[in-house]
This record gives sequence, C-alpha cells and structure tokens, in this order.
Amino acid sequence: MSHLNVTKLILTLVTLGLAVAATACRGETSAETPILLERNMFQQQRYNPQARSNFFADGRSMRKPVEHTFAREMDPSSEISNGEIGNGTGYVLSVPTEVVSQLGGMGKAVDRGEQRYNIYCVPCHDRAGSGQGTAVKRGMAAPPSLIDERVRHMPDGQLFATIGRGVRNMPAYNYSIPVSDRWAIVTYVRALEISQAGEQ
Ligand code: HEC
Repeated sequence: MSHLNVTKLILTLVTLGLAVAATACRGETSAETPILLERNMFQQQRYNPQARSNFFADGRSMRKPVEHTFAREMDPSSEISNGEIGNGTGYVLSVPTEVVSQLGGMGKAVDRGEQRYNIYCVPCHDRAGSGQGTAVKRGMAAPPSLIDERVRHMPDGQLFATIGRGVRNMPAYNYSIPVSDRWAIVTYVRALEISQAGEQ
C-alpha cells in the first residue's frame, strides 16, 4: 500500500467515525446534565415568577413599578389613559378628540370598536349588548344591559375605565385591549345604544 493510500484510508475512517459520533445521540433522552462547551448565560442566578426573595424587605422577587412612573408607550394624559380628569375629580364626559383622530375619525373608530367589541365583549354582553352572551347561557351571572339608562348616562370615561379595570364580577381588560381600542369600543357601545334608543 502506498503512503498516499494509507492517508486516504485514515481520512475516510476518521470522517466515518465523526459522522457516526454526530448522529449517535440524536433523539435519545438522558438524565445527565448536558455538556456545555460554551456556558454563556445558560445557567444564571435568577428568580422564578412570584418566587420569594430574601433580598427585598417585603420578601417579593417581583417588584412594583416605582410610584408616579409610567412606561414609554403609556399616554401621560390621565384623560386618555384612565378616562379621568387630570385632578381626579371625575370622568371625562366624551371620548377625547385626540384619540378619535388617532383612530382615523369617528367612522373608523366605530368600525374598529365594533370589531373589537365582537371579540372581547360579545361572549358576555352579546352582540346587541343585552347581556345574554354565551358565557351567561352557560351559567355566568348576567351583566346589566349596555342599553340600560344607567350605562347610557355613564360618562364615556367611566365606560372606558370599566373596560380597563373591570367592575365587581367583570374582569379587567387593560392588559389585553390597548388604550386606543378601549376608546374605540366606547364609541361603538354608544353607537349600539343610539341604534336601540327607541326600544326601551
Ligand atoms: C367575562 C364576561 C364579561 C366580558 C367579556 C365583559 N364584561 Fe362587561 N360586565 C360583565 C359583568 C358580569 C358585569 C356586571 C358586573 C357586576 O355588576 O357585578 C359587567 C358590567 C359591565 C358594564 C356596567 C358597569 C357598571 O358600572 O355597572 C359595562 C359598561 C360593561 N360591562 C362593558 C363591557 C365592555 C365594553 C366589554 C368588552 C370590552 C365587556 N364589558 C366585557 C361581564 C363581562
């Protein structure tokens, strides 16, 4: 055998060996800790959600935002983000005009509101707002009709705040429905009420 052939043979064997080694462990489970050549941040000290902390005096690992701070994407205007008049004396009476123009005008706001209402409110309040949604038919306590005199006379800001914070048996939707969509829903609920004005 020539010297060249021996080198070729060795190379082939090494390549074969590597190929077998590379496929050997695939799909198998192992109780061993994985071999990590580069550990990076694979294992690091951290808290699990809701875990206890010995570091903070109140024992919680999850921290509250610092008081009077708000996230970059939040609107600093209390009227827009809470539906409340700045000095906390009450609710804004009608949907802030800035929000209506942000939504592309009243027509578009109502359209968007209809679409969001049909996703988020219909399961309990039903399409007409009478409060007989599927969840109610399956045993949930019925909400009041949105066409009720009381809801009709609620300031728009209060309706907005109800969606965001929830009220008594109604859950809060501030985490799932963005601010502008909550206002859009308010415009649609008003449209629903007007459309059924003669029916009370
Ligand atoms: C999981 C069911 C459920 C969903 C979804 C739901 N609501 Fe309600 N809602 C209720 C219940 C129950 C009440 C009655 C609360 C009470 O008085 O205990 C209620 C009450 C209300 C009231 C009256 C508040 C008051 O002060 O009496 C308004 C207005 C309202 N909901 C609007 C909405 C809108 C708008 C949506 C969609 C974003 C929505 N709700 C989604 C269950 C729901």
